[in-house]
Amino acid sequence: MSNSATPSKKAAFGSVFSDKMIVAEYKDGQWSPGKITDVAPLQLHPAAHVLHYASTCFEGMKAFKMANGEVKIFRLDRHIARMAQSASLLHLPIPSPQELESMIREVVETNKADIPEPPGALYLRPTLIGTEANIGAAGAPSGEALFYVLVSPVGDYFSGSTKGLTIAIEDQEMRSTPGFGKAKTGGNYASALRHVMRAKKENQADQVLFCPGGDVQETGAANFFLIDDNRIMTKPLDASFLHGVTRDSIINLARSMGYEIIEKDFTVDELLEWIQHGEAALSGTAAMLSGVGQFILHGETHPVGNGEVGPNTQKLREALLAIQSGKAEDQFAWLK
Ligand SMILES: Cc1ncc(COP(=O)(O)O)c(C=O)c1O
Repeated sequence: MSNSATPSKKAAFGSVFSDKMIVAEYKDGQWSPGKITDVAPLQLHPAAHVLHYASTCFEGMKAFKMANGEVKIFRLDRHIARMAQSASLLHLPIPSPQELESMIREVVETNKADIPEPPGALYLRPTLIGTEANIGAAGAPSGEALFYVLVSPVGDYFSGSTKGLTIAIEDQEMRSTPGFGKAKTGGNYASALRHVMRAKKENQADQVLFCPGGDVQETGAANFFLIDDNRIMTKPLDASFLHGVTRDSIINLARSMGYEIIEKDFTVDELLEWIQHGEAALSGTAAMLSGVGQFILHGETHPVGNGEVGPNTQKLREALLAIQSGKAEDQFAWLK
């Protein structure tokens, strides 16, 4: 690993990298084969398309070590499909799904020794950037591109902590735009950042839940669920927010555990009503399912239960981890 720290609970997510990555280049209308290289600074022309016009997208997924030493990637096909969708929205060239899969597998195999025991995992970050040196291309796609997969061993960020997150509700502005929220692209994170920074400063919030005009969408880096003993509720898929792979996994898992799934648009008022009796949680690859302890709206605090991660959130999180780590039957064939 490039940082001597092991991926302990103390290492911040994404700050420790394995030594090797895989890289492919797009030039003259074709992709080069993937090549394993050292993780080192990239050579980019200062006029590179990505640096000016944000032609970039990425994915985030995890490879887990099974008890027998085998390594499995969680829902690889879904992540590849989402990356292709992001690339298409950005008019970026992208290797075929088969080439993406083979490069992702190769870089995981190369760095296999770095994979911690579950709930730790190897976090995989496939990244695609437009590299054509042309500052005149504001209204044209990049004719050249670079694809690489960086990998990062990650630990368990939850062990011992039962405290719920503090989430600030933004009820005016949206994170991205109505048609671009489903792209996993750097610009969407950049446009959300000022809201996140303000919420941290003013409310010591962990994250912001974007609810433009009262429509509950997602946070800066996770999807959103309302949960109780019998039901889970979340916004139905549309182009305004990222279609989380964990969101889909929680929905399928919860259905198989007997919960009623309600996919419908709902408002901040309905959220505040729900937390009088129920739970709230964020879903994403990094943190799986994280309970919310309190919301802050217009400076006012709205507690969720006793502020701890709720029992149903805990139960669903454990059920997901049991599948990911190979401890429970992989009934949906999610591990590949
Ligand atoms: C904006 C946003 N929404 C939702 C998610 C959850 O997506 P997934 O479950 O695929 O990690 C993420 C995390 O990648 C995200 O950045």
